[in-house]
Amino acid sequence: MSAPPAIVATNVSRTYELDGVSVPALRGVSLTVAAGDYLAIVGASGSGKSTLMHLLGGLDRPTGGTLVIGGRDVATLSPPEMARLRNETIGFVFQSFHLLTRTTARDNVALPLVYRGIGRRERRARAGAMLERVGLGHRMDHRPNQMSGGEQQRVAIARALVTGPSVLLADEPTGNLDTTTGQSVLALLESLNAEGVAVVLVTHDREVAERAHRQIVMRDGLIVDAAPVAATGPGEPA
Ligand SMILES: Nc1ncnc2c1ncn2[C@@H]1O[C@H](COP(=O)(O)OP(=O)(O)OP(=O)(O)O)[C@@H](O)[C@H]1O
Ligand SMILES: [Mg+2]
Repeated sequence: MSAPPAIVATNVSRTYELDGVSVPALRGVSLTVAAGDYLAIVGASGSGKSTLMHLLGGLDRPTGGTLVIGGRDVATLSPPEMARLRNETIGFVFQSFHLLTRTTARDNVALPLVYRGIGRRERRARAGAMLERVGLGHRMDHRPNQMSGGEQQRVAIARALVTGPSVLLADEPTGNLDTTTGQSVLALLESLNAEGVAVVLVTHDREVAERAHRQIVMRDGLIVDAAPVAATGPGEPA
């Protein structure tokens, strides 16, 4: 028996209201993130990728359609229930890191565990282990402004992973990194995926997208193409 899907979005839309003007950022998107999936989302700037990621991560709610995360319809959840579902299920890596600037790497990573009610000692131990995992055992007590961009990105990934999520959502995880650092961040995401964590990433980089098991292409708030990536050999049907 295969595991139930991690996230199912059915005909979801998201319209922002801004100064009396409606901005339809998503206009009816259906997408299933399977357990253990590895999915890349590509598309032009403004096509709705980040808006979709925020919905998939339970950071925002759709204005239309149905969104089920970890088997739960988000429309039925109160804000605290939603926060709890997010904390238990999802790791989110923002393009701009969103780290606390006056706080050490270790305490940044430990933060999601505060909401779990885990004691300080245990939090520090788990955060330390996760920083070791992303290769930052020697940077535990550095603050973000004392670290390189790639190091900060890895702290953000460690923070997303410290709670043991089943889905990791990463918006442009390699966007601000040089090629070598980007490759090592990607290798880290792929090793997590090999352990069964579903990975969804947004990227503008074709090579990054092609490493995923499947890609979806967005345009003007819609999915215009969804295909497995080169999974078929020559002569096989695409
Ligand atoms: N909070 C907001 N209020 C109003 N409009 C918004 C808001 N956030 C995004 N939008 C609009 O919604 C559309 C989709 O934005 P989104 O951030 O999802 O695009 P994106 O595909 O992630 O683009 P990029 O590649 O530049 O990050 C854009 O037209 C954007 O201007
Ligand atoms: Mg974006």
